[in-house]
Amino acid sequence: MVYQNILLDTKDRISTLTINRPDKRNALNELTREEMVHALEDLQSSDDTRVVIMTGAGDKAFIAGADISEFEGRTPLTQRAAMKGLRIFTAIEEFPKPVIAMINGFCLGGGMEVALACDLRFASDNAKLGQPEINLGIIPGGGGTQRLTRLVGEGKSMELILTGDLIDASHAKQIGLVNEVFPAAELRDRVQAYAVRIAEKSPIALRMAKEAVKAAARTNLREGLDREADLFCLTFGSEDKAEGVRAFLEKRKPEFKGR
Ligand code: COA
Repeated sequence: MVYQNILLDTKDRISTLTINRPDKRNALNELTREEMVHALEDLQSSDDTRVVIMTGAGDKAFIAGADISEFEGRTPLTQRAAMKGLRIFTAIEEFPKPVIAMINGFCLGGGMEVALACDLRFASDNAKLGQPEINLGIIPGGGGTQRLTRLVGEGKSMELILTGDLIDASHAKQIGLVNEVFPAAELRDRVQAYAVRIAEKSPIALRMAKEAVKAAARTNLREGLDREADLFCLTFGSEDKAEGVRAFLEKRKPEFKGR
C-alpha cells in the first residue's frame, strides 16, 4: 500500500508511523486519518511489529490538530458523517500492541487526542501541548474531554480545555500528561531505545497488560479486578509464560516468542 500522507518504517521490531504533512504542521485531514487507521490494521497482524511509535515529520509539530480547513462549511450532519467508521483514536486504543506517542513539537487538539489514545507519551523539551479548540468556538471531539480528564484529573483538564492555553513539555510532565521529556536532539534515539526494551517482553503479556489497564477507565473496580484476574489467568496458557518462569528459575534472560 502506498500512502500519501504517512510514512512507515520498521526497525528492530519497532514500527514508526510518521504523519507527513510538515508544511501543514502535520494537521490531520480525512485522508491522513484514514491512512493511519489502515496502517494500524496492517501492523496489527505483522510479526515484525511489536511496538508502534507515532510521530510527526519535521521538527516543528507532532500534530497541530484536525485540519481546520475541513471544518469550514460543515454542518452537524456532515461533521457527524465525517466521524463515522473506525476513528483513529479508537484504533490506537484498541491496537493490541503498545503504541508510543513521540511528541516532537506542537501537539494540539486532535494531535493531543492521538497522543492521549497512545499508551505512553514522550516529548521533546521544545514541545507545546494543548486543546485549543475553544478558540475556534468548538470543543475537543476526539476523546479529549474524556481521556485528558482521566489522565490528569478534572481540574487540570478544565484548565486546558476552557482556556485553550498551550503548556510546555516540562509542565506536561509535571501534571502526568507525558511520561518523560528528552532533549529534542535525543528524542528519536531515546524513544527507540525505550521501545526496543518493551519489544523484548512477551507480546502476549503486553497485549493482556494493555487490555487490563484500559479496563480501569472503562469499568468499575469490581469488574476491572475480575477482568484483570481473567487476563492474568489467560497468560498462563502461553509458551512465553513457561519460558519466563523457567528463565527466572534457571537464572537466564527469557526469550519470548509471542506464543
Ligand atoms: N489545520 C490546518 N492547517 C494548519 C493547522 C491545522 N490545525 N495548523 C497549522 N496549519 C497550517 C497553517 O494554516 C499554515 O498553512 P499555510 O502555510 O498554507 O498558510 C501552515 O500549517 C503553517 O502554520 P503556521 O501557523 O504558519 O505555523 P507556526 O509554526 O507559526 O504555528 C501553530 C504553528 C501550530 C501554533 C499554528 O499553526 C496553529 O495555531 N495551528 C492551529 C492549531 C489548532 O487550533 N488546532 C486545533 C484544531 S481543532
